[in-house]
Amino acid sequence: MKVLLLCTCLSFTSAAAKPNAGLRTWGRFSKLPYPGDKAFLYDTFPKDFIWAVGTAAYQVEGAFEKDGKGLSIWDTFTRGGNRMATGDVGSDSYHNIQADIRAIRQLGVSHYRFSLSWSRILPNGTRGSYNEIGTNYYRSLIKKLKEIRVQPVVTLYHWDLPDHLQQTLGGWSNPELVGIFKDYADFCFQAFGDDVKYWITIDNPFVVARHGYGTGVVAPGIKNDPDLPFRIGHNLLKAHAAAWHLYHRHYRTRQQGKLSMALASHWIKPSRTRLESLRECQCSLDHVLGWFARPLFIDGDYPPCMKARLGSRLPSFTREEREQVRGTADFFALSHGAALSFQLIDSLNFGQQEDLDLRMLLYWVNAEYNKPPIFVVQSGWWV
Ligand SMILES: *[C@@H]1O[C@H](CO)[C@@H](O)[C@H](O)[C@H]1NC(C)=O
Repeated sequence: MKVLLLCTCLSFTSAAAKPNAGLRTWGRFSKLPYPGDKAFLYDTFPKDFIWAVGTAAYQVEGAFEKDGKGLSIWDTFTRGGNRMATGDVGSDSYHNIQADIRAIRQLGVSHYRFSLSWSRILPNGTRGSYNEIGTNYYRSLIKKLKEIRVQPVVTLYHWDLPDHLQQTLGGWSNPELVGIFKDYADFCFQAFGDDVKYWITIDNPFVVARHGYGTGVVAPGIKNDPDLPFRIGHNLLKAHAAAWHLYHRHYRTRQQGKLSMALASHWIKPSRTRLESLRECQCSLDHVLGWFARPLFIDGDYPPCMKARLGSRLPSFTREEREQVRGTADFFALSHGAALSFQLIDSLNFGQQEDLDLRMLLYWVNAEYNKPPIFVVQSGWWV
C-alpha cells in the first residue's frame, strides 16, 4: 500500500487569485523559519483531520483474468518488450479482502482510497459487457469497509483502460472516450454511489497523457507523436467534466458526494532567485499542475504560458467547452511528490531542482487557484 493522507480544508489568508498569484510563494518562504513555524511543526492535528491509505487496482488486485475480468492496457503493456514485473497477482487483494480490511482497521485510518478496475466491471469498457462478479467484488469491499467504519475514496480511472478500448478506438486519443467514460462513471455512481462521498474521476492525467501517450514509459506505451499528449489531456479534461456534470445533475442531491481529478506535482526550487527564474518555475508548474488545474479551477482554459509556448500544438476549447470544464472540481486533489511528473521532460527543466516541500506547494496551489479546499490524496517519493 502507498501511504497517503487526506487533509481537511487548509485555509490560508489571501486575496482572490490573480494570474501568476503563485509567484509570491518563493519570496514568502525565502527566509525560514517563519514566525509561527514552531506551532506549525509541533501542534497536534485537528480532530477532523482525515488520515487515509490508498492503493490502485492494478497494483494490488491481482486476479487479472479471473471471473470474467477483461484485460486492461496494463495487462498487455507488461507483457510487451522486456518488462519483468506484472500486476498479474499484485498483492492479491482480490482474494484477500478480509486480510486487507484487518490491515486497514489496524492502521486506524478513517478513509481508504482505492480504484475500480474498469475492465473488471465492464470487460470491454462498455455496458453491454457488464460483469456482475467483478462488480460484486467492489460491492463487498465497500460493505466491509462500512462495517469497520472506514469511508471509501474511490478512483474511477487509475491508468488501467480496458484494452479493448485501446485496440479498437485508440484509447484516450479518441474523443469518443469522453462519452464512454461518462457512461462508465454513470454505472459506477449508480452501483456504488450511495456509499461513496469522495470520488476521484481520473488519477494523474499528466502521467496518462504525457507518459502513456508521449514518452511511452507507462501503458499503453505509445510514443513518437510529441503533440498527442495534449490531445489526450484535452479528452481527459472533457471526460472528467462530463462525469462531473452527470453527477451534479443526477446524483449529487441524493448521494451528497464530492468529485475531483487527482493532480500530481512536487515542489521546484529555482536555479537562481531572480524573477526570471521564478517565472520559469511558474511556467513549469503550469505545464504540469496548471495544464489541468487552471481549466478546472479558473476559467476552463489552459495557462497562458502553456498557450504561448505551445501555440497550435495545444488544442483549444470552444466557449461552450470552457463553460463545461470550468468549475468541475469540488476540491483540489493533490498527489504530492510523484517523481514521474517533471522528470524526463527536458523542455520543462530550466535548471531547477525538484523539492519535497509540501508546504510551499500547498501555499502555491492556494494562491494560484483561489483557495480551494485541498486534499492530499497521495504522498510518496519514488523513482
Ligand atoms: C462489448 O461486449 C458486449 C457483450 O459481448 C457486446 O454486445 C458489445 O458489442 C461489445 N462492445 C464493443 C464496443 O465491442
